[in-house]
Amino acid sequence: MSAAVTQHIIEIAYLLASALFILALKWMSSPTTARRGIQAGEAGMVLAIGGTLLHRGIVDYTWIAIALVLGTVIGVPLGRVHMTAVPQRTALSHAFGALCVTLVGTAEFYLRSPNVPRFTMAVLSMEVILGALTFTGSLMAAGKLQEVLPQRPITYKGQNVVNLSLLAISIALAVYLVFHPDARALFPLMVGIPLVFGVMMVIPIGGADMPTVISLLNSYAGLSAAAMGFVLDSKLLIIAGALDGSSGFILSVIMSKAMNRSFSNVLFGAFGQVQAGTAAGQEARTVRSATPEEAAAILSAANKVVVVPGYGMAVAQAQHKVRELYDALTRRGVDVRFAIHPVAGRMPGHMNVLLAEADIPYDKLADMDDINSDFPQTDVALVIGANDVTNPAARSDQASPIYGMPILDVDKARTVMVIKRSMNPGFAGIDNPLYYLDRTLMLFGDAKVFVNDIVRELTGVAAHA
Ligand code: TAP
Repeated sequence: MSAAVTQHIIEIAYLLASALFILALKWMSSPTTARRGIQAGEAGMVLAIGGTLLHRGIVDYTWIAIALVLGTVIGVPLGRVHMTAVPQRTALSHAFGALCVTLVGTAEFYLRSPNVPRFTMAVLSMEVILGALTFTGSLMAAGKLQEVLPQRPITYKGQNVVNLSLLAISIALAVYLVFHPDARALFPLMVGIPLVFGVMMVIPIGGADMPTVISLLNSYAGLSAAAMGFVLDSKLLIIAGALDGSSGFILSVIMSKAMNRSFSNVLFGAFGQVQAGTAAGQEARTVRSATPEEAAAILSAANKVVVVPGYGMAVAQAQHKVRELYDALTRRGVDVRFAIHPVAGRMPGHMNVLLAEADIPYDKLADMDDINSDFPQTDVALVIGANDVTNPAARSDQASPIYGMPILDVDKARTVMVIKRSMNPGFAGIDNPLYYLDRTLMLFGDAKVFVNDIVRELTGVAAHA
């Protein structure tokens, strides 16, 4: 094959890959097309890798083959983790991608120095700085989520000043190298400081806030890949990196908004230090509880039921039992829908994924903004392992740490039933006034076991938990 023909094939492969990446993002934005989106992304990646392997600059495939085998050996088990471990798995992927970008940038610098044009040196510096901080930051985030590192935020006086100074020093080194690309001795410092910065940036953030950080690091990884595209003159990398960078950024903004945190608060790392204003120290208040038999009787007498799933449903892996409950109630003519809060659970789309896994019809899922006005006409709001996303203090108590966070208005339903194991708080560490309302019944127990018991009452069949 002539060089020109090969080059044409590579260009076409890259063009198709770019189009598939864009379509993948579009399709992944809805549960009905999400699978197609994943397949489009995979096909795009195969085309991108295939096109790259055709490059005439490659003289020996040995190391590439070794890397492919190694990547497959590491990647396949990584793809088989439990749903609740997806955030840390994603963080590890970012860490690998960012390390790769940093190493490529380093190799390019030493190959080209001292003859590096200013623009190339500027984007190369951005590539390695973002790559290095994303590498260590993502490892820290994965470690915190996997609980191999302490989850609690570690803070000290002047932390932001120290962190921002580190970043400023590496940017100053980058500026110097743009004008003096022959100063090869400074390059390791420019890469080393962001490696330290990545660790320092994540230290003050609590483990449960890591999904937002991971989404932000995702955006950094994308931007560093786009910068690498400029260095290597690869349009595909620029497009894929820009898509990754912007979608990660948009997701971080959506998550911050849904948690009522300003974006600058996220950027400067002063978050995750959740006030632990738990029930302790507050006056003792009574709650009313009910048994599975009573809950089943109330549910079967209802016309309209809205199920509100949360993190506890994910922990209990109760989604299949919830599907059985949906079937049992629907058979009795009860109108059952599911209210989805954007940050219920611990990762974006957490509840959608779990409910889709249990084959609950998509048209029964309603977003917060669409369903909130329906709660006053709802007979029963059944909260399954959700807490913060239903806390009315976010609406009414200006002193509450979650004041201003949009919530699902379950307290406006005629009857509220809450399945959880205890009176312990949720992620925000605060008490929930919902539990003390006259119309609220607490259903104490593990979500999977309790829902199973309700289903058994409704169907009269001994189901297996
Ligand atoms: P949470 O407020 O975290 O509450 C979960 C509740 O589930 C807990 O109160 C817990 O009570 C209960 N639970 C745990 N295991 C259970 C089990 N096996 N069976 C029954 N109940 C169980 O959850 P949420 O309402 O979904 O809110 C999510 C929180 O995470 C929000 O504060 C949000 O800001 C934060 N967050 C979300 C994200 C994303 S993207 N989703 C990212 C970062 C942070 P017991 O211990 O008493 O059972």
